[in-house]
Amino acid sequence: GVARTPLIAGNWKMNLDHLQAIAFVQKLAWSLKDAKHSFGEVEVAVFPPFTDLRSVQTLIAADKLELVHGAQDVSIHDNGAYTGEISGAFLKALACSYVIIGHSERRQYHHEDDGVVAQKTVAALKHGVTPVVCVGETAEDLEAHGPAAVPVGQLETVLDAISASDADAEIVVAYEPVWAIGSGQAASPEQAQQVCAALRAAIVEKLGEDAAARTRILYGGSVKSGNIAGFMAQKDVDGALVGGASLDAAEFAAIARFR
Ligand code: G3P
Repeated sequence: GVARTPLIAGNWKMNLDHLQAIAFVQKLAWSLKDAKHSFGEVEVAVFPPFTDLRSVQTLIAADKLELVHGAQDVSIHDNGAYTGEISGAFLKALACSYVIIGHSERRQYHHEDDGVVAQKTVAALKHGVTPVVCVGETAEDLEAHGPAAVPVGQLETVLDAISASDADAEIVVAYEPVWAIGSGQAASPEQAQQVCAALRAAIVEKLGEDAAARTRILYGGSVKSGNIAGFMAQKDVDGALVGGASLDAAEFAAIARFR
């Protein structure tokens, strides 16, 4: 099969201001460097708030850190009269490799539906920033529909939009069961594998075998250094989207050394 480079991604959410971000990235780089021999091929990404991106970009470039960075959201628009919005073009100008799209917190608190998530995905691709598309079911969804139906449905809307615009586009998918986020109650590796396999099957269906084979699918929800290995051992889990544990540099570096 295709070798997919594992991606360990840290979603800072609304944590670490501009100056804290600088100190944190320096500490993280040190923790990662220290452990470099044990790495192998793994991509490590941080997702700071918008206001930190410029400084993080500068640090990574100036010190040639083995890190990439991304944003936590993007506008569906390119530019213009959209107060408070940030376009994909601006993220590209700050050398963002990735942007998180459709995180459950945005779906819940900012009423983003599958249609908006699909539009944002297309907007990111248009500007050359790789979308990290988040999907996941709530505890109620799980009860009513079982584990895979809701996340697969969420992803299908996005895949339809991609296949209409750019079927060869690179995306990353993050499976984040809402009940596992920030709860300390991670999914089991087997549960994660089951849903990630269903998500990959949906990609086969909509974009074809090649796209499915190269797309990285991450698990997110209460990942820490103590449980990462179990997820990474799964065939269809290609990395992790880490929230709380990504705010501790040593802990996040330990997650990146999952082997
Ligand atoms: O995007 C990552 C996130 O939602 C998971 O958060 O704190 O459970 O690792 P946490």
